[in-house]
Amino acid sequence: TPGVRPLIAGNWKMHGSLAEAAALAAAVQAGAAGAPAAELLVCPPFPYLHLVAGKAGPDLAVGAQDCHAAPKGAHTGDVAAPMLKDVGARYVILGHSERRADHGESDAMVLAKAEAALAAGLTPIVCVGESEAQRLAGEAETVVTGQLAGSLPEGFAAAGGVVAYEPVWAIGTGRTPTEPDIAAIHAAIRAHLAGRFGKAGEGLRILYGGSVKPGNARAILALPHVDGALVGGASLVAADFLAIAAAL
Ligand code: G3P
Repeated sequence: TPGVRPLIAGNWKMHGSLAEAAALAAAVQAGAAGAPAAELLVCPPFPYLHLVAGKAGPDLAVGAQDCHAAPKGAHTGDVAAPMLKDVGARYVILGHSERRADHGESDAMVLAKAEAALAAGLTPIVCVGESEAQRLAGEAETVVTGQLAGSLPEGFAAAGGVVAYEPVWAIGTGRTPTEPDIAAIHAAIRAHLAGRFGKAGEGLRILYGGSVKPGNARAILALPHVDGALVGGASLVAADFLAIAAAL
């Protein structure tokens, strides 16, 4: 999207040791200056967040993979958005399909979490995407716009919120939608954002996620309304992650 700085985000999921997180963050930070076209972001597991945030410089942002909807309270095992902010996070991924599947997160829950993120001064990255059955039934666009309608809070655009389109069947599988199919969903997301938020919705970043690799990044990132990528597996190898960022 013209005038928009792309975001290349790494979702480390539940991988790595403390030593590996430190080394990966240092390697990405060291290479970040070589990919000035993009904003780079890494999202480590909670226990490594503080350490990784300490290694990140101005060229590398740090985010979390989830937060609770409440700012504090009796919620054993959960993590509040202000805590993430406190340890140096700037972004938080919300509504990832793995959380929707593993923890039964509904659009309403994602909406509440996104509100909590905004209140804490974090930028939410809200994930949406259809299952393979929904894709085959021709429902991908309806599913995605329905998820957006249900999970984006009112203040989303004003805070520069990010949407990530991740078709569930493309995550970790090595499969991706065709380029026209990616472009069609991104155009539908843009139309939804512009319809709901007006001018501000036209400049929000829409990331593609699902088996983004150095080999397919250039073609995907060149598509209209693809303003970056949310990278899983390939973000665990600094050279691959930086190659994706350099494909812009
Ligand atoms: O959030 C990113 C992710 O779900 C994509 O994973 O491994 O297919 O790049 P991967």
